[in-house]
Amino acid sequence: MSDRPNVLVTRPIMDAPLARLGERCDVEIHRNEFGIPREELLEVVEGRDAIVTMLTEKVDAELLAAAGPRLKVVANHAVGFDNIDVAACTAAGVLATNTPDVLTETTADTAFALLMTAARRVGEGERFLRAKTPWIWGPLMMLGQDVHHKTIGVVGFGRIGQAVARRAKGFGMRVIYADAVQLPPEVEAETGAERRTFPELLAESDFISIHTNLTPETRHLFGAEAFRTMKPTAVLVNTSRGPVVDEAALAEALENDELFAAGLDVFEREPEVDPRLLNLENVVVIPHLGSATVDTRNAMGELVVDNVFAALDGERPPTLLNPDTFQG
Ligand code: DGY
Repeated sequence: MSDRPNVLVTRPIMDAPLARLGERCDVEIHRNEFGIPREELLEVVEGRDAIVTMLTEKVDAELLAAAGPRLKVVANHAVGFDNIDVAACTAAGVLATNTPDVLTETTADTAFALLMTAARRVGEGERFLRAKTPWIWGPLMMLGQDVHHKTIGVVGFGRIGQAVARRAKGFGMRVIYADAVQLPPEVEAETGAERRTFPELLAESDFISIHTNLTPETRHLFGAEAFRTMKPTAVLVNTSRGPVVDEAALAEALENDELFAAGLDVFEREPEVDPRLLNLENVVVIPHLGSATVDTRNAMGELVVDNVFAALDGERPPTLLNPDTFQG
């Protein structure tokens, strides 16, 4: 038996970081297109020194117990870590890491792409032409909403929210934000952003982009009441986590013209998408592609490997989620 560290990678990641991981570890990659069924995951984690997880795998006390005492680190290949019970990792003495920063700009690009697509009915126009619908230019055809010089409300003004605000500023938009913390004046000055309460933001915004973590407090933050408070011309964009939005209530609001449109990268019961949303022309849906570019997925993979190597070497991983666990 090899004395090299033994690492499980739950889905294929980019070649370069994978090759670097393989230079010093025995690596088993799970290649099932639809991820590892839970029962199988609980079996294959046993005896690993490190596990590289995706947002599709739940890491909890049961999984940590199944992995056993060799496990040093769970390295999540995502910035979001609502799939990881960090307290359970800490209790088990296992380091937990994520991949912040490297995907900030790319995810902000995705949010802006959804915003533009939904506001200007790009998806609908594409479908219309591909269906070979007869048409001729007309002054009232497929009218959308202007983006430039409108007000964008950013919910969750962390790294990605601020990157969206910088893009919005380039479009001459007014930026307001809702966040538990007031940002330092220099950050507000850079983006021109002003803080609002959540209800104020709902009422004032022409566009709302969601960038909050999924926590018990933010689950269904956007529900029927929020949609009633928003402008009927407003566009909602979500690139954070699906359950922040009550999908049934969103479908209802869109069906009743309480909102103009929505752009969604994430879904409440991923990978399922509410069929009511799929039937609506004013919904733009993409399959959780927020950070899906070649450069960013390479950068995420490299950061995962940095985190694993640091943990194996007894050093502090660069993006550690549970610093209490690190005995430096
Ligand atoms: C993340 O990193 O949390 C994204 O949702 C997946 O890239």
